[in-house]
Amino acid sequence: MFAMTALTHTTKPEFYAELCRQLNALLSHETDPIANAANMSALLFHAMPDVNWAGFYFLQTETELVLGPFQGKPACVRIAIGRGVCGTAAERGASVLVDDVQAFSDHIACDADSRSELVVPLIRAGGVFGVLDIDSPVAGRFDADDQAGVEALAAIYIAGSDWSE
Ligand code: SME
Repeated sequence: MFAMTALTHTTKPEFYAELCRQLNALLSHETDPIANAANMSALLFHAMPDVNWAGFYFLQTETELVLGPFQGKPACVRIAIGRGVCGTAAERGASVLVDDVQAFSDHIACDADSRSELVVPLIRAGGVFGVLDIDSPVAGRFDADDQAGVEALAAIYIAGSDWSE
């Protein structure tokens, strides 16, 4: 059994350094991408304060993301590339940090409680193959430290999973 340990950080970089260590431990004995995405969603959802949704969308065609493993309320299943915060991050191949989702004109509301959002693209061999999406009920919840931290977590997920099939 994997036991989440209490995070004793004092700064966000320390928090993410600890979370990265826990994620490495959690994924160390498994390479299945879906199993790892499911466990990673659970870890982030429970470890990150003020988060109401944490999960994955994967590119199923060149034009569409489809919902993957997540924690939180049921979510919209299909997002076109270029649409919403997720589709925008996938199109740009770059993280998108939204302080106030109500001010992001193309935001796709899945949980009415969400106020801010951070979406990190998943990139392998130079191509985007999905996104990692974190939502918060608190406006302005995410900053550059969160972006750097979640990008580091995403890199651990990508490196720790077997993409050969
Ligand atoms: N808000 C996202 C949709 C996914 S949910 O937040 C889980 C978007 O605008 O792409």
